[in-house]
Amino acid sequence: MLVKDPRSLRSHRWFGLDDLRSFGHRSRAASMGCVQADYAGKPVIAIINTWSDINPCHSHLRERAEDVKRGVWQAGGFPVEMPAITLGETFQKPTTMMYRNLLAMETEELLRSYPADGCVLLGGCDKTTPALLMGAISMNLPAIFVPAGPMLRGNWRGQILGSGSDVSKYWAERRAGNIDLQAWMQIEQGIARSAGTCMTMGTASTMTSVAEALGLSLPGASSIPAVDANHPKMANLSGRRIVEMVWEDLKPRNILNEASFNNAIATVLALGGSTNAVIHLLAIAGRAGITLTIDRFDELSRKTPLLANLRPSGKYLMEDFYYAGGLPALLKALASQLDLQCLTVTGKTLRENIAEAETYNTDVIRSVESPVLESGGLAILRGNLAPNGAVMKPAAAESALWKHAGRAVVFDTYNEMNARIDAPDLDVDANSVLVLRNAGPKGAPGMPEWGNLPIPQKLLKAGIRDMLRISDARMSGTSYGACVLHVSPESFVGGPLALVREGDIIELDVNARQLHLRVSEEELARRRAAWRPRAGIYPRGYGKLFLQHITQAHEGCDFDFLEGTAPIPEPEIH
Ligand code: FES
Repeated sequence: MLVKDPRSLRSHRWFGLDDLRSFGHRSRAASMGCVQADYAGKPVIAIINTWSDINPCHSHLRERAEDVKRGVWQAGGFPVEMPAITLGETFQKPTTMMYRNLLAMETEELLRSYPADGCVLLGGCDKTTPALLMGAISMNLPAIFVPAGPMLRGNWRGQILGSGSDVSKYWAERRAGNIDLQAWMQIEQGIARSAGTCMTMGTASTMTSVAEALGLSLPGASSIPAVDANHPKMANLSGRRIVEMVWEDLKPRNILNEASFNNAIATVLALGGSTNAVIHLLAIAGRAGITLTIDRFDELSRKTPLLANLRPSGKYLMEDFYYAGGLPALLKALASQLDLQCLTVTGKTLRENIAEAETYNTDVIRSVESPVLESGGLAILRGNLAPNGAVMKPAAAESALWKHAGRAVVFDTYNEMNARIDAPDLDVDANSVLVLRNAGPKGAPGMPEWGNLPIPQKLLKAGIRDMLRISDARMSGTSYGACVLHVSPESFVGGPLALVREGDIIELDVNARQLHLRVSEEELARRRAAWRPRAGIYPRGYGKLFLQHITQAHEGCDFDFLEGTAPIPEPEIH
């Protein structure tokens, strides 16, 4: 149903009036070779493109922008590509999480300050997806997310390699002395074979799947490998559809509601998705004005089966998932746990979108009768060590460690950990609990993916491959291990993690969702009184702004001034 006409388009204020400023806009459009018929009365579609020479996951997005433009032109729109900061997970330091909110701000303000009527968001590398969605939801113009798509399977000597997961696995073997430099360098050349995002169920595929489950991408878009011919077709179709969405005035906040967030969380759980999804979904919901707490993840985790047999929790990779039917097939298998009435960018419900979906490989996409795991993909832990919560992915840990007590081995900083972890005299054994602090949103800063602390070399050589690790950091979605993450409040602001001492006993009970420091309240009070905060490392600049406004992990790590839906006026044109 069309609810907009050309004169009610936002861009009409820039192009359609008979005044001095519109003269300037039209004359400068002419200077770029545009004739009035290109844009007059047509929706202007901003294509927010996070392509960059320094982001291998997005190296194909220049061409994809052209595919989107083709679709926009054909549907009667006027495409305008707008480059935005790229968040390249592998190259950007200290961590892309420092810049998620910056890209979100940039997306929102690009859309606000230019004559956009709708937008297509191009990205996929970990933080890019939540950042683009957060910005677009805050601006609330019609929006479609075009996921970058996963890369092809890795290969080494005939063995399939998965991004991140196999890096961690073979790095542990190298440190244990089980593979040599030549083999390691062959793995380096075989693990990333094409454009696209990590092809395990890491943060990238988790978040692009979240975008689709929320209803913000075309059905099936998130599973298509980046270099498959169906990927540019999907980009083209997204370009066509966004023009219709502008006329229909179908905006993100018409699509998002509490039920769609429940669907997204259930999807993360059924995929065995990244723990990072917890933080990002909290932040995305905050932009949509929807109340979401970490406890919802635990609630849904207790009843949602793990259906996708994908690394790091399972066996296969995204390419296999796509051939097995992709996300629509998984959503259909999970239908009993979802609200299928939720609206999507197609203008149809989730039920209509997945009606034709089929599973072609039941070992890759399991049924609820034959899941990889009955439930418990994520666990939210609480206790005197994490009053505001901590996150763990039990499916990626050795089950023997789900109930565990051991002596703390404490590292105050990442550098200290690096310097001591392999020391032959480190007082550690397989039962010890490795603790890293000052790795949270403010402490690191930026809450890097340090939560998968390395196993000490002497234990690796003794055959140990997992042990309990606790931090206020995040962990790569491609990693695995008994890692308790996102401890909140973080140690840098005086959270109880700051009070742990070497040799204290820490108890974990995943089934009871408990994380406990076996130290008396009186002793903790004494330690708290003696605790002194560390100084922040940014005297000026963006880092200072970050430290002043970043929220804690259980709140989503958005900037406090970006949350909510308070209306911001349209820019005046003078
Ligand atoms: Fe970009 Fe993994 S490094 S998705």
